Amino acid sequence: MARHLVSTHNLSTPQVIGLLDRAEEFLDERHRDILAGKIIVNMFFENSTRTRSSFEIAAKRLGAEVVNLDIGSSSTKKGETLVDTALNLDAMGPSAIIVRHKHSGVPELLSHHVRCSIINGGDGAHAHPTQALLDLLTLRRRFGGDLAGKTVAIVGDIKNSRVANSNMELLPRMGVNIVLVAPPHFLPSATAFRTTHHLCDIIDEVDAIMSLRTQTERHETQTYASLADYGRQYCITEEVLGNRDIAVLHPGPVHRNIDIDDAVLADPRSLVLEQVKNGVAVRMAVLEHLIVPC
Ligand code: CP
Repeated sequence: MARHLVSTHNLSTPQVIGLLDRAEEFLDERHRDILAGKIIVNMFFENSTRTRSSFEIAAKRLGAEVVNLDIGSSSTKKGETLVDTALNLDAMGPSAIIVRHKHSGVPELLSHHVRCSIINGGDGAHAHPTQALLDLLTLRRRFGGDLAGKTVAIVGDIKNSRVANSNMELLPRMGVNIVLVAPPHFLPSATAFRTTHHLCDIIDEVDAIMSLRTQTERHETQTYASLADYGRQYCITEEVLGNRDIAVLHPGPVHRNIDIDDAVLADPRSLVLEQVKNGVAVRMAVLEHLIVPC
């Protein structure tokens, strides 16, 4: 039976640690033939720079071939259902389909219909499991392996963020304390985590900040007068960080000088491009885990 990665819940904690250990080996960027002869399909119904190309490079580094479905010229535009599209691609014999969709639940739905592995590349505000895994790898490398007792502030549009959701599930498993920092309308309506509206409340306690983009595409109404107004309170600047040794992460795409300012992005404390590099290795580990029989 095919294995799927719809959310981080699909992975036990030992499996997560095993994937990160394997990803460390893949950071050498060497070509391998582990997936030679296999086909991976990218089926992205929402825009992507990082996730789609990262999966493509990961698959190619493992020797697989990659098909990128061009949604704009696909038969979904003629009324074919999502399930039929997936069933038809599955009938061509790929080992995995990576799915991104604006609606939560699409990868889970498809996983009940196809023979190949379904990997969630981000569904609505629900989950982005490989992003959380690469964030975890980045934090683990930054803090020398042990994350127990570290505190990570997730800052921004948490309510609408699949990245935040997946990290809020995964990081506490490693003993990480999470604090949520956002204006009231960007906080989840119910949460077990500590919350605050002010960065200054937590800046002396945190080891890392995970800044998030304001997900305007998921807002039903405009919730801030402007992004600039939001940025005045929540942008991660050199002034906010001071000389504290705080790691700064962001899943991308970054709204420069709204989420994080230019100076911090160029500062060694920013791990934003490290996250992108680690993402390829993590996705190699995920592809191998799902496709190669144990
Ligand atoms: N982090 C992330 O999901 O980026 P993309 O939207 O570019 O894939």
